[in-house]
Formats: sequence, C-alpha cells, structure tokens
Amino acid sequence: MRKVTWEDLVNRVVALSDPIPAGATLDTIETPAAIVDLPVMASNLLRTAGYCRENGFDYRPHTKTHKAAGIGAAQLMAGAHGLTVATLREAEVMATVSDDLLLAYPQVGTAKLSRLVELAGKVRKITVALDSPEALESVIQAGLGSQHSIGVVIELDAGMGRVGVQTPAEAVALARTAAGAPNVRYEGVLFYPGHIREAGWEQDGRLAALQQRIDQFLEALNIAGLRPKVVSGGSTPTLWRSHQIHGMTELRPGTTVFNDRTTAEIGVCRWEECAYSVLATVVSVAVAGQAVIDAGSKALSKEELRAGGGGYGALLDRRNVVLKSLSEEHGILDLGGTEWRPRVGDRVRVVPNHVCVSVNLQELIWGAEGDKLACWWSVTARTRSRSPIP
Ligand SMILES: Cc1ncc(COP(=O)(O)O)c(C=O)c1O
Repeated sequence: MRKVTWEDLVNRVVALSDPIPAGATLDTIETPAAIVDLPVMASNLLRTAGYCRENGFDYRPHTKTHKAAGIGAAQLMAGAHGLTVATLREAEVMATVSDDLLLAYPQVGTAKLSRLVELAGKVRKITVALDSPEALESVIQAGLGSQHSIGVVIELDAGMGRVGVQTPAEAVALARTAAGAPNVRYEGVLFYPGHIREAGWEQDGRLAALQQRIDQFLEALNIAGLRPKVVSGGSTPTLWRSHQIHGMTELRPGTTVFNDRTTAEIGVCRWEECAYSVLATVVSVAVAGQAVIDAGSKALSKEELRAGGGGYGALLDRRNVVLKSLSEEHGILDLGGTEWRPRVGDRVRVVPNHVCVSVNLQELIWGAEGDKLACWWSVTARTRSRSPIP
C-alpha cells in the first residue's frame, strides 16, 4: 500500500469538507478567526501516527483538542485506530466518523448513561474509563436492558492525583467485577500522565516513577488472571518518550495535532510545528509601547504559560512578541522588546498558550495553505448537550 503523504492528507481533508465562501482569504475574513495551517497539521498527524506504528502502539488521538468531526476523520486517514473523547457530545460527534470510541471520562448519572447506551447501538465499539464501584455498577445496570455491550477500562492514578484508583487491589476488584458482568467487556486499564509537563529531557525521574507505578498495577492484574488487553496511556508532553515506558498498548495524545506555545516552550515541538493560530487585527496603537488586537480572552483563553514565562500567547511570525495582558475582546501586545511597530489594520497570528481551550471558544476553524483558505470545520463538539437540546 502506498504511504499516505501530507499532500494526500491535505487533499483528502479539503475534498471532504464543505466549500469555503467565494473569495475568502486570510486578508478578507473577519477577525478574530481560528486558522489551521493544513500542511503543518497533516505533518503533525503523520509524524505521530508513524511514531505509534514504529513503536507498536495503537494510535487513538484525543479529539478534545479540535472537537471537529472533519479533523477526527483526518486522524483516521493518517492511521488512527479509533478516537478518544472526554464528553458525550464529543462521542456523538466523533461517532459520525469513527466506529471505535474511547470515552476517557467516568460517566455518572442516569441522563449520561442513557446517552452512552444509545451510542453503544450506533458504533461498533465503545469503551468507557472509570475508577469507582458506583460508576461500574451504573454501567452494568445501564447495559442490562441493552443489546449492545459497553467496554470498560479501569482508570489508574499514575501520579497525577486527579482521578484513577489508588491501589492495585482496587484495580483488581473493579476489573474482576467488570470481567464477570453481563453486557460489559473488560478491556484493560487507562492512565493519563498529565503531571509530567516538563521538557522531554527533564522527564527521567518522573518517567521512572510512572513506570514503577504502572508495573505494580499490571503485575497485580496479571497475577489475578485479569491481564489487560488494552493499556491506554500517553500525552503530548511525554509523546516522544512513550517507547521508553513499557507495557502500554495505545497512545492518546491530543494537543499534538495542532501543538501550542506551551508544547513549543517545553521543546516537545518546534515553533514551525504549531498548526493553530488566531488571526487578529490591530485595532489601536494609541498607547506607547503596545498594540491592541481584537483577540482577547474570549478568543484565546486566559491560560498561563504552563512552561513558566509570561504572556498569554505569542505571534506566529515574531515569537518574541507576546500578549502581555488580555481583556475579553482586547489583547495587548508588548512591543517593549522589538523594533517592529504595527499599524492599525495590520493583521497578526497568535499562537495561544493552550490550544484546546482556545478551540473551545471558536464556532469554526479555517484550514489554510499559506494565505489561501482551503476549507473550514465546524467545532461541533464544543457544546455539551445534544442538538437540539432535549
Ligand atoms: C484522559 C486524557 N487522555 C489524553 C489527554 C491528551 O493529553 P495531551 O493534550 O497532553 O496530549 C488528556 C488531556 O487532557 C486527557 O485528559
């Protein structure tokens, strides 16, 4: 089979998406606007899929980063085995392009469980992560009246301290119940190393601790005769070191489809590998030493740079120019360290600190090749309810 190139991927993505309005270019669209550089996104996808293939991992990207069915379809074209979601809305949207979904979030409450059961009837395979007897019992009860089975992975706390069972004994108990329940498939375990956010070359100690913890869980499950078929892990900061963590069968990176300022600052991607930016217009230069753009916290989000350092985003083509403060609709560019003096009406592209939350603020994302707009995607999964709201 011929290898998929980034050009193939871009062509297929553009062919599958809705046509863009006549005459729309980066210069003519209204700002602020979310822009994805198609060749950069396609290369990011192929690089990640290739790394997974070469190292024997299933690639199951987390779609919370883009929340758009068309981009989920691009990930599958690039070689993904299925998609990961965090919300039922994401699951319902991604079910239109993938028949194998992992809902990496415990589903609690009857309203959510009935949506989950409905989804199980729509896709070939759906698996949910959970960490409590209560959540497992709800899935078992919900599955009883259904013709379709629901997969379960037991979430382990691998050091993040957010969710996940704390001890191997708890993991064994949940796995045993799941394995013996009707209409539930015990698939294995899941963990998220979200506490490891330093530069790749500074991760040695934390990766060693992570390995030790996972080994304890896997050993207990093996001894109990509950060997996990799936060991789902992975994140963007640890992505390129995943082959050094033993035992995982699949990776769920999310951010890497676009990358962002944080990912670049910790050296996990190059600046040129940032595919997403918010196009903005300079609306005021009245105050000396700064320029104001029409992208504020309602376009970029007000996340601190998790890598340390200041500002709320940096310019794609002038990385040293950062947004020193944000109001809802105003972004204040700090011109203190640059000779560059923009004029009112000039356009800039801002790489946000954390891309996932910026995407969640957009109705649509434009796909661009250079300055030419080639396609657009609706960020359909950014809401929570079904549409229309029941
Ligand atoms: C459970 C889970 N898996 C995977 C991811 C993807 O992480 P990243 O965006 O660092 O690749 C996340 C991110 O929030 C997550 O919560």
